[in-house]
Amino acid sequence: MTYTASWRSPSNIALIKYWGKHSLQLPRNPSVSFTLSACHTTMTIMVSPNAAQPNLTVKYDGQAKPSFEPKINSFLSILKERFPWLADAAVEIDSHNSFPHGAGIASSASAMSALALCLMDIHDQINANIGDHDELWWQNVSEIARIGSGSACRSVFPVISIWGETPAAKESNDLYAIPWEHQLATVYKDYCDAILIVSSEEKSVSSSAGHKLMDSLPYAATRYSEAYKNIESLCKSMQVDNELDQFISIIESEALQLHALMMSGKDPYILMEPGTLSIIKEVWRFRKTSGIPVCFTLDAGPNVHLLYPSKHSTDILEWINTTLTQYCAEGRYILDRVGSGPVKIA
Ligand code: PMV
Repeated sequence: MTYTASWRSPSNIALIKYWGKHSLQLPRNPSVSFTLSACHTTMTIMVSPNAAQPNLTVKYDGQAKPSFEPKINSFLSILKERFPWLADAAVEIDSHNSFPHGAGIASSASAMSALALCLMDIHDQINANIGDHDELWWQNVSEIARIGSGSACRSVFPVISIWGETPAAKESNDLYAIPWEHQLATVYKDYCDAILIVSSEEKSVSSSAGHKLMDSLPYAATRYSEAYKNIESLCKSMQVDNELDQFISIIESEALQLHALMMSGKDPYILMEPGTLSIIKEVWRFRKTSGIPVCFTLDAGPNVHLLYPSKHSTDILEWINTTLTQYCAEGRYILDRVGSGPVKIA
């Protein structure tokens, strides 16, 4: 018997950054992210338990991708206790990212959350669980996604989610993310994220190496306590509509701290490109002259995420086209916004 599941799961952009981990992908500090919409992974998996020849095949857009197999194999091995049918199953995974390959956008959050959803779905089919996807179900998905890639655990909830224990959110914990949309002021519920593709090259440093760097950094303890403070102030400011100045100041400081950490190790690296800095300066100039509350955040790479309230979309788009595309690789950018979380396709 072969079971099939198909899910679409979004990427996310961290507002308070997760950078530093221990044990099995447990965070050194709490983080919070917007769940995106346009940037997502669609994945289909086919599982034949009790296969004569248990194996794993990973494809991307229908083409075999053996280079993806070691990471997924070790993820599936960890999950065998939770999903005993994995022990002798033939598994075939095929996925597609909505964002172009080589856009410098990490796919691990969307891909690992899609994989967690597909595995839970298959598990339900095998065990004939036909109940609703309740809170516990989503917690399990988030926990499994975390084991695949830490930040992926935040992608499974709509609009915004928090991962890691913080007094800012009652049920928060290190094992899985929790949804936080119900606390959010209206302005943030359809916030926009324009992703400016400064470089389309593959990431030069893996996030695992980045997390590892934190273990030997003399500033690590200070960073973690800053993140704890920042998440509390941010969550407070995001519960009211008119605290955008506070929001902006925390978001930009978090982005720059992330990069400052990477630059300050014994084996430092710089992931910003000249275009990244030019855009940051343009953001500061434009915000001052236009009064539009746009700010930037960065992931572990050179691309810049512009965050702004949706009512300013027209002005921001004009500004991107007249002023910012000169800093983008082939003038490329992606217009995204906060989204409603994963969707079951079949
Ligand atoms: O999930 P990982 O291990 O790829 O780490 C992601 C780290 C950042 O994207 C830089 C920050 C974050 O919280 O998403």
